Amino acid sequence: MPIPERMNPTFATVAPLPVNRVELPRKRLIVALDVPDAASAAALVARLDGTCLWFKVGLELFTAAGPAVIDPLIQRGHSVFLDLKFHDIPSTVAGAVRSAAALGVNMLTIHASGGPAMLTAARAALADLPNPPQLLAVTMLTSIDQAQANAIGYDRSPSEQALALASMGLESGITGFVCSPQEVAAIRALAGPDATLVVPGIRPAGSDLGDQKRVSTPAETLRRGASYLVVGRPITQAADPARAASLILDEMAEAL
Ligand code: C5P
Repeated sequence: MPIPERMNPTFATVAPLPVNRVELPRKRLIVALDVPDAASAAALVARLDGTCLWFKVGLELFTAAGPAVIDPLIQRGHSVFLDLKFHDIPSTVAGAVRSAAALGVNMLTIHASGGPAMLTAARAALADLPNPPQLLAVTMLTSIDQAQANAIGYDRSPSEQALALASMGLESGITGFVCSPQEVAAIRALAGPDATLVVPGIRPAGSDLGDQKRVSTPAETLRRGASYLVVGRPITQAADPARAASLILDEMAEAL
């Protein structure tokens, strides 16, 4: 059997990885910019510029820095996931979705638990745009375990509830979901190969869980059918974020 190029000592120090080994995982890793202000975000992005393609702007950064934080990312050639998890009456969510799309982001989130009318209104808000962002419905937060679900009053387990919400979303025409590693395989089976499944709660083996409960490793989550992985603290709080991201990209490449 020929030695794979990467393991052949003749090539070990000179041969670059094949383009696909680098580019494919890069297109599927989203780094969560959960930092308190625009300056911290810019510093982190500068450290990750050559390594990562996608960045997620969430509630902490957006609330502090506002919409102005988006454009510099786009200007640097990055793809942006705006994760504000809208959850309100249908007309308010439709307006917020239109405003988010106007910022030029590539993906944005609403809560599936807003119900079919809210999901339909959000989808309709994007219908006439020439190049709309991917709309994602959040099923169940990855921090919700059985005890949290019981406290909220759900009768079902978190995974059953996530599946039920995905099923309701599909009936409302939603084609993208955010779910945990634990239910991504079931939602992939339900939603089919073309659905966009974005999965946070990713923890490389041995790393700190933080407040996340329903977690898995990057490779295993891809094997279960994730389209994109969202990784925050394992990269952003590492001593060397670019190296932490590279190790995750390597693990993803093995799985792809
Ligand atoms: O630091 P960590 O990797 O846990 O970050 C995960 C990111 O994914 C956070 O920004 C969080 O808001 C987001 N997220 C999540 N669970 C969801 C949806 C989004 O953890 N269901």
